[in-house]
Amino acid sequence: MSGSGLYRFSSRMARVPDSFLGELFSVSAQPGVISFAGGLPDADLFDVAGIRDAAEEVFNQEGKSALQYTTTDGYLPLRRYIASRYRSRLGLNADPDEIQIVNGSQQCLDLVAKILLNPGDHVLIERPGYLGAIEAFSFYEPVFNPIPTLEDLAGPSTEAIQDLVAQYHPALWYGIPNSQNPSGMTWPVELRREVAELLDGTGTLLYEDDAFGELFFDGRARDPVKRWLSDQTIMTGSFSKTISPGLRCGWIWAPRSVIIEFNRAKQAADLHSNLLSQMILARYLETVDVDQRIREIAQIYGERCQVMEEIIDDDFPSGTSHTCPEGGMFLMVTLPSGVDSMEIFRQGIKQKVAVMPGTPFYVDGGGIDTIRLNFSSANPDQITEGMDRLSMVIRDMG
Ligand SMILES: Cc1ncc(COP(=O)(O)O)c(C=O)c1O
Repeated sequence: MSGSGLYRFSSRMARVPDSFLGELFSVSAQPGVISFAGGLPDADLFDVAGIRDAAEEVFNQEGKSALQYTTTDGYLPLRRYIASRYRSRLGLNADPDEIQIVNGSQQCLDLVAKILLNPGDHVLIERPGYLGAIEAFSFYEPVFNPIPTLEDLAGPSTEAIQDLVAQYHPALWYGIPNSQNPSGMTWPVELRREVAELLDGTGTLLYEDDAFGELFFDGRARDPVKRWLSDQTIMTGSFSKTISPGLRCGWIWAPRSVIIEFNRAKQAADLHSNLLSQMILARYLETVDVDQRIREIAQIYGERCQVMEEIIDDDFPSGTSHTCPEGGMFLMVTLPSGVDSMEIFRQGIKQKVAVMPGTPFYVDGGGIDTIRLNFSSANPDQITEGMDRLSMVIRDMG
């Protein structure tokens, strides 16, 4: 990418895919558009009063320290909370010193790539993979090796993992075992064990992104791959989907040697995450019944997912298939052959329904016949109305 003649951009910028998201979000925000395109939690489920009370307590009791600079690793009571939740939810022993707070788990994608990737290093990623990871990693100029996701496995092909690891010795394997974005798939436990066994001792670090692990509709926690590959796994989490994305608070849990380098990179990037947000969250988490709140949110999202699936099953043209999420916020639809998802996006906007075309999630350019649908942000009536519009758009094109 060149500049205007008065300045120039780094050559690295030319390698980063143009984000389609800006256009997507601006059309989705047009009045009357029902959007299944984004990935927002439902703002009606935010505990505004509870967070306001926690903020008031922080200001009243520790206002001066909350407004001061702090250390890079993050607010210790919050790191202790995260560590103890790993113990209570998953029976895993996390040391608060292995946890660092970040400005949303998206920041981990950038910083992990910064400390691990040289240009030309190989990165394994699910196919389809999380667009935010593809964008963040691209700045560090890796070679992406997409791992086919197989519906019958509900996760990545272990054969492909084995071959790619042996052939390329990737620096990183980035995956989302819980309610993957964009597919909505959850890897079964046997697959998790197998992935751990395949990677063990290979020199490839596993990046296990757990943005959605708390949001299973049945409320049951799933064992992370880290359980079987502790010293070789980075795991990240976030309060965005369960409490508030606006607080920009997530974390990384990684072996100490990784944390030390991560800390250096974070210090250089932004000194530390927003301390006020961290203190408010820590206070809030002490006072609220978190499990109960999360159960309610997951249940509501589960009902919405079901509404969406039923409309696809009943009203979409034959030849359409969809994933069946156990949690999270997204499902993926494969359209009858010949239907182009970019065209669905364009026609959908005319009919005031927005979807996310699948193509940007495929680092090798596939996915033309797929769309990702978000079921968390619209209520059931809006979902019904929006899916009716979408079904008409697809039928008209068929
Ligand atoms: C899989 C995945 N990882 C990470 C993120 C980043 O979330 P945040 O930075 O809000 O924690 C998202 C956001 O949607 C996501 O879907």
